[in-house]
Formats: sequence, structure tokens, C-alpha cells
Amino acid sequence: MPMTTKPAFSVLLMPLFFAVGCNESEVMSLPGDPAKGKMAIAAYGCGSCHAIPGILGANGRTGPPLERIAERTYLAGVLPNTPEQMMRWIRIPEAIDPLTAMPNMDVSVNDARDITAYLYTLK
Ligand code: HEC
Repeated sequence: MPMTTKPAFSVLLMPLFFAVGCNESEVMSLPGDPAKGKMAIAAYGCGSCHAIPGILGANGRTGPPLERIAERTYLAGVLPNTPEQMMRWIRIPEAIDPLTAMPNMDVSVNDARDITAYLYTLK
């Protein structure tokens, strides 16, 4: 019985590992860990306001969808889209736009770095 379920399981998971592996190699220059970033995005609940590809249940409509955010020229319409500015926005959005609906969620530097690494895989 276990003999028949095991291979099926690994076949199911294989494309997942493949996808994660590809994304990681593309963001080698970023210090963050995209896999951890994915978990942090889920933990902070960013998906309650944003649709975020690859995050289960992240289909909020309050903020803009983060689909292909890596290719955006500006973040929140004002910041040049660089990893540093992305981290800044995620940690202290109100410092950049005092009227923004995006709350300061007390995101730690490490989490912001990992989240940024994941968001830059969205191309
Ligand atoms: C209460 C709703 C809300 C939550 C929760 C939220 N955001 Fe936002 N976010 C917004 C809104 C609204 C904007 C648009 C701000 C603007 O353009 O001025 C935004 C903008 C952004 C942008 C820039 C998007 C763009 O198109 O330029 C990024 C990146 C982002 N948020 C990431 C996150 C991350 C990561 C989290 C979780 C740590 C998060 N947000 C949590 C509402 C939210």
C-alpha cells in the first residue's frame, strides 16, 4: 500500500520544487530567501489586501495585485523599483505616503528582505 502512494506523492511535488529552484537562481543577487518570504507574506496576511501569485488565498482587492511586480518601474507610483525601496515600502509605507491605506505591519528587516526576494520572482 505505501509503495503505491509514495511515487504518486513525489510526482505531484516535483513541479513545485522545480519552480522554486528556478526562481531562486534568478534572484541570486538578492540576499533574501524567497521561500521564507513566501511564508512571511502568508504570516503577515499581505494577501488580505493584495492578489499575490503563488500565495494560497492571497486574493485581496484593497491594494493593487502584485502580479509581475518585479517588472514595475515604480512602487506605489512614487518609488523607483529597487530591492532597497521595496523593503522600505514594506516596512514603513506611511513614511513614503502618509495617506496610504497600506498599514505599517511592523515587518522586521529580515522578513522584509525575504518578502522582497519573493516579490522579485514575480515577473
Ligand atoms: C490594509 C491593506 C494592505 C495590507 C494588509 C498590505 N498592503 Fe500593500 N498596499 C496596499 C495599498 C492600498 C497599496 C497601494 C499604495 C499606493 O499606491 O499608494 C499597497 C502597495 C503595495 C506595494 C506596491 C505595489 C505597486 O503596485 O506599486 C507593495 C510591494 C506592497 N503593497 C506589498 C505589501 C506587503 C508585502 C504586505 C504585507 C507585509 C502588504 N503590502 C500589506 C494595501 C495593503
